[in-house]
Amino acid sequence: MIGYSFYRRVNTFLKRENLRYCILSAAVAMLLLCCNEPLKEPPHKKVDYIRKIDGKSDSIPIAIAQRGEVLIAYADCKDCHTVEQRAKGPAFIQIAEKYPASKAYIDMLTQKIIKGGYGTWGQPVMAAHPNLSNEDAEAMVKYILSLKKL
Ligand code: HEC
Repeated sequence: MIGYSFYRRVNTFLKRENLRYCILSAAVAMLLLCCNEPLKEPPHKKVDYIRKIDGKSDSIPIAIAQRGEVLIAYADCKDCHTVEQRAKGPAFIQIAEKYPASKAYIDMLTQKIIKGGYGTWGQPVMAAHPNLSNEDAEAMVKYILSLKKL
């Protein structure tokens, strides 16, 4: 009788140990599975400044575009902008590629020239031009948007 109860005790002990062993090995297996999973690269933030905004472009009268070009030549825009190459500010052709030449965007960009601003093309700040009239700033925008590749 003594022998049998001893056997039972050992048996339950072993069973309990087995259970523990099972849980432990499951935990180890899970850990291994987790660690084996390839490290995911953090999503790379891609900033695409010349992402084109869809929309219809109105035609720009050539006389206004030419007036805008002359106004730009006499203003300080060239300190920060060139037609083809990004400088402190975006290239005019980049701006032309980005925005449809519709009234909404022409108005928005006209206000941006007069009031200045930042945040659309990266870090640098666009200087304000409070002395420019709405009409002149708008002609400048129309010149810039007329550089759109057809
Ligand atoms: C001090 C430098 C500086 C001067 C001077 C300057 N710009 Fe800019 N311009 C910038 C920068 C920087 C940006 C980009 C701003 C941004 O990221 O929102 C910019 C952006 C612009 C944009 C695009 C705005 C947008 O929201 O996409 C237009 C249009 C523009 N400039 C026209 C002009 C014109 C016209 C003049 C001259 C009257 C001028 N800029 C003078 C620095 C300048």
